[in-house]
Amino acid sequence: GFSWKLDDHPKLPKGKTIGLIVLDGWGEAKPDQYNCIHIAETPTMDSFKKTAPEKWRLIRAHGKAVGLPTEDDMGNSEVGHNALGAGRIYVQGAKLVDLALASGKIYDGEGFKYVQQSFDKGTLHLIGLLSDGGVHSRLDQVQLLLKGASEHGAKRIRVHVLTDGRDVLDGSSVGFVETLEGDLAKLREKGVDAHIASGGGRMYVTMDRYENDWEVVKRGWDAQVLGEAPHKFQNALEAVKKLRAEPKAHDQYLPPFVIVDGNGKAVGPIVDGDAVVTFNFRADRMVMLAKAFEYQDFYKFDRVRFPKIHYAGMLQYDGELKLPGRYLVSPPEMERTSGEYLVHNGVRTFACSETVKFGHVTFFWNGNRSGYFNSEMEEYVEILSDSGITFNVQPKMKAIEIAEKARDAILSGKFHQVRVNLPNSDMVGHTGDIEATIVACKAADKAVKMIIEAIEQVGGIYVVTADHGNAEDMVKRNKKGQPLLDKAGNIQILTSHTLQPVPIAIGGAGLSPGVRFRNDVPNGGLANVAATVMNLHGFVAPNDYETTLIEVFEN
Ligand code: 3PG
Ligand code: CO
Repeated sequence: GFSWKLDDHPKLPKGKTIGLIVLDGWGEAKPDQYNCIHIAETPTMDSFKKTAPEKWRLIRAHGKAVGLPTEDDMGNSEVGHNALGAGRIYVQGAKLVDLALASGKIYDGEGFKYVQQSFDKGTLHLIGLLSDGGVHSRLDQVQLLLKGASEHGAKRIRVHVLTDGRDVLDGSSVGFVETLEGDLAKLREKGVDAHIASGGGRMYVTMDRYENDWEVVKRGWDAQVLGEAPHKFQNALEAVKKLRAEPKAHDQYLPPFVIVDGNGKAVGPIVDGDAVVTFNFRADRMVMLAKAFEYQDFYKFDRVRFPKIHYAGMLQYDGELKLPGRYLVSPPEMERTSGEYLVHNGVRTFACSETVKFGHVTFFWNGNRSGYFNSEMEEYVEILSDSGITFNVQPKMKAIEIAEKARDAILSGKFHQVRVNLPNSDMVGHTGDIEATIVACKAADKAVKMIIEAIEQVGGIYVVTADHGNAEDMVKRNKKGQPLLDKAGNIQILTSHTLQPVPIAIGGAGLSPGVRFRNDVPNGGLANVAATVMNLHGFVAPNDYETTLIEVFEN
């Protein structure tokens, strides 16, 4: 029968303290002026590669290596941390939704049938991120869903758009809204009453995560549910164009707006009897809204009105909290993650990050599962992020505070694994501010140094890696790799993640002599890290895990 017991590793000892560091958004790319990691002073990260090349390598962090549909899909933190923690490659939400739409099975599922019950008398509302970034959602899926829903009886549809500029180029929101308007016009020709009802920038409206700032969700609620926002327009394309024309406007941060009719009345508030689908497949930035829609008792902000609706997520966003209860596509079934195995095998774990990435080293790491496997064996510490700012203003973020917590946990002797996520290179990279991103990379490097010093002090082992690329390339490039210019001749800043591989380095006084990277896993990726870490804890990984990256060389 099944057993949680892991076999002993034939050569590696148990009981070492492992510092497991994930730099968020830290890829490897050729050194040039748009590579902030190259420009920044990062002596610690540089030293791994220089002083112990047999204990440093690159691993894949995008596309199929992390369960995404194609090799053109950049990596992201959800799929990256899932792969790191689960040790296997799961077909991820993006692809599962593609398959369900292509086969039409999405319309036979319980989730769709549930929202369909409202089509007779109510309106179908679609809420989500409008772009082709493929991280949280994809435009082509929304287009298929609109068509499919109308063919399956939706007669009145309202779309509440969140503009991106974070997983795609800033300014691209205009084109996406234009495309959507075209699709809605075609639906209207077929007799479906279909319109955009509200909008706003993803980082300012709705898509907060890990309860960093409920005001963000409230602004969305007011526009989407109540039909209230500081900006009112009769046309969504005009709305986005006008709001973008404001000084320092960015797609990510556009203020909320509602679309009104000729009498100034909102065209699509959410009311009793309506159906709502949140069409993001990714979990983290939809869980808060799902709570607002589903929880009877809810105190995070005043909802003013709590409509009785039929709500479904594109996916279920949290399997443990069962949120939302209804969903169109079943999420990947990630089970037996490395964290769960390790607690069953006596490994005491400490995990820490600041709010904006806290769920990454816990929830995503554990297969999109909230909470502890065993609270006696684990301690998760969240350091509060600054809220209400863009992180280029505070590029050091809480890197040092995270490193201090990790250091204390290591020195306490209470834990075998001390795991952190350092958010700087990703969160600041997403702002597109190159100067600030350089400061961010330097801060993360300093935090790595602090943690490694603590590991050396206790005779432990460190594993330093990243979840995907971001700060190593801040410019959009053509196929030849040359920076692309916009109409005005300025370079096009890349706020998004990249397709680059990420480094992994191992070391520390506790690393057994002879441990080095194998050279027969050239295509190794993030999913190979779990087995590697299990080995370093003194165990052999389960058979179905992706293979380990290390060997013990004896001469
Ligand atoms: C975000 O949600 O901030 C971006 O879309 C992706 O960033 P992450 O995958 O690094 O969290
Ligand atoms: Co990111």
